[in-house]
Amino acid sequence: MITPQDSIAAIVGHITPPIKKEGTAFAPTNIALCKYWGKRDESLNLPVTSSLSLSLGNKGTRTTLSAKKNAQDTVLFNDKAIPSSDPFFKRLSYYLDLFRPELDWGFQVITHNNIPTAAGVASSASGFAALALALNQLFDWNLNKKQLSILARLGSGSACRSIYSGFVEWHVGQDPNGMDSYAEPLDVSWPELCLGILTVSTEKKEMSSRSAMKQTRATSLFYKCWPEKAQRDLMALKKAIKIRDFSQLGSISESNAFAMKALMLTTEPPILYWQPETLNAIRKVSDLRKQGIEVYCTIDAGPNLILLFEEKNKRRVEQLFIGIEIEVG
Ligand code: PMV
Repeated sequence: MITPQDSIAAIVGHITPPIKKEGTAFAPTNIALCKYWGKRDESLNLPVTSSLSLSLGNKGTRTTLSAKKNAQDTVLFNDKAIPSSDPFFKRLSYYLDLFRPELDWGFQVITHNNIPTAAGVASSASGFAALALALNQLFDWNLNKKQLSILARLGSGSACRSIYSGFVEWHVGQDPNGMDSYAEPLDVSWPELCLGILTVSTEKKEMSSRSAMKQTRATSLFYKCWPEKAQRDLMALKKAIKIRDFSQLGSISESNAFAMKALMLTTEPPILYWQPETLNAIRKVSDLRKQGIEVYCTIDAGPNLILLFEEKNKRRVEQLFIGIEIEVG
């Protein structure tokens, strides 16, 4: 069996003590328009399908990292010390285990997020991407983006897409060692495209996407249809992006998110991330379309919506969805 340690060894070789004092990096969060839902390899975070996302310019995670011999890990998140018993601390420490020069080395992590954490707006994606980039700085590895994307994937699958800005495709790959499963940007800019985060709840979600997708794959009768749906949506989305067809981009993204929701609902026991406010907002989006205002939505593993619209409708969206945080293409 191939382990994350094998991937690290193939990319950076033997880990020696860092030469630099610290490494600092920012990574944007990303919103999947064609979702990643299901792993073919749990320990390497290798997906069942390819996926496609859009990174959110200034929204994401900034992380500063240093390392010391004879020290314990410490984590400061949004200026608050996180206890070592916290699942978030444990997840970081577990990932950092892959990079300790020796067992008695500890990492000091100072991290800031400007997005709601664990409410279904991909905070682990920007978190692990920023950590991989900061490790590269700290150890002075000079890795390329493909290698960084693989390192980030080992922390959280969707993090491999947060190495880039703009539209990003994560190639499913075939190799059991995962070296062909990494993300790459699409060479397209779409300045009029807007994305709005509509937070209807900031409560911590009940189930991590890691456990949820595992349950889905194991128990949903509909899961066997998912690879075909994802592949079809991916192709159609890439075409829509190339010719900047907003209606296609919006309707395929929405359909893909609802198909993922169908998988969750048919999981045993069912996974219910949505709140009543989620459904109210979806209704509002669909009513707007009936009035000729083209707005679409996508939703990840949580209750919050991401609205997709064009800049010409920005003011209208701002008026109708109070508190929405908008990012322009
Ligand atoms: O990378 P994870 O384990 O946080 O999974 C992310 C899953 C979704 O956000 C729901 C979909 C995606 O492609 O980002």
